[in-house]
Amino acid sequence: MKERNSILIVGVGSIGERHLRCFGATGRAELSICEVNAHLRKTIADRYEITQAFENLDEALSSRPAAVVICTPAHLHIAMATAAAKVGAHLLIEKPLSTSLDGIAALREEIKRRTLIASIAYVYRAHPVLTKMREAILSGRFGPPVQIVATCGQNFPFFRPAYRETYYKDRASGGGAVQDAFTHVINAGEWLVGPVNALVADIGHQVLAGVEVEDTVHVLTRHGSVMGCFSLNQHQSPNEFAITVICRHGTVRFENQQNRWRWMAEPDSPWHDEVGDQLDRDTLFTLQAEAFLDSLDGHRAPLCPLEAGIQTLEVNLAILNSAESRQWQVIN
Ligand SMILES: NC(=O)c1ccc[n+]([C@@H]2O[C@H](COP(=O)([O-])OP(=O)(O)OC[C@H]3O[C@@H](n4cnc5c(N)ncnc54)[C@H](O)[C@@H]3O)[C@@H](O)[C@H]2O)c1
Repeated sequence: MKERNSILIVGVGSIGERHLRCFGATGRAELSICEVNAHLRKTIADRYEITQAFENLDEALSSRPAAVVICTPAHLHIAMATAAAKVGAHLLIEKPLSTSLDGIAALREEIKRRTLIASIAYVYRAHPVLTKMREAILSGRFGPPVQIVATCGQNFPFFRPAYRETYYKDRASGGGAVQDAFTHVINAGEWLVGPVNALVADIGHQVLAGVEVEDTVHVLTRHGSVMGCFSLNQHQSPNEFAITVICRHGTVRFENQQNRWRWMAEPDSPWHDEVGDQLDRDTLFTLQAEAFLDSLDGHRAPLCPLEAGIQTLEVNLAILNSAESRQWQVIN
């Protein structure tokens, strides 16, 4: 019988409901929720038979959960995470970690002082196929990476028709393509070839109706000696998320929609495909929940430790600064 941890989900909107369902699917968690919207709180509590449903964080934290999953808009993450850390709760924080660096040092200190587990919910780190491709890169089988190219796009209004009414419409609450979708791609890229230490970006609002935030992003990156090129839009019809890593002795490519990674080590030869087991979006989140519970149980390191989340936050901010100033940005 696996031990069950008390897990508080804060904010049960779109992603919070998914975390609730997916932590539930692990069978390893006692779940409670915190949600300011009374109607939503009742709907979700009824739907998932949650008996502890709190309307504010202070009240919820007084129930002393073992861990808190923070699923509110990004500008609220740091204050909520810090309050939770102060009562000794471990943390799974939705991406992006924040919209600025304010409060990060104090949160880092609190986590360190209380030796808490903290992970940022960059869910592609739970992807079995991407994980396998990363292991192949790290094994040295294809030689050292020299270049990374990511090509991503999807029709955001199709997947989130209400985008105009959410945090997405305003950068201050974590909106726009850079902080919302592109941050997943950057974090995955950093996981594969190391942190971005310099970049130059061009971003624009090209298509999406009813918002003014950028929906199209182009970024050139440097990860030490590795050169990178990342692009994403939120309006094209094809739904694609592909990351190619060119290594000195071979090329590997992750193709999310095909649920495969592939490699080629001889010029102009056929791709060798490594296809993963069928998986849906909930499966990824359930794997992420399992990994987080494993880290609470001391069985593994967090999938995306706080420092990696801070690094990607710094990249988000550098992209916005670069686009504004039209200058290269250096990240220390
Ligand atoms: N990993 C992913 O694939 C993914 C997908 C979508 C969103 N996200 C991230 O998750 C976060 C939330 O996004 P969302 O789409 O679920 O937003 P959402 O607006 O659907 O839900 C946020 C919820 O937080 C609640 N809330 C706000 N302030 C609160 C407070 N003080 N106390 C309790 N509840 C509060 C709101 O009432 C709302 O129900 C964002 O950071 C977003 O970037 C991640």
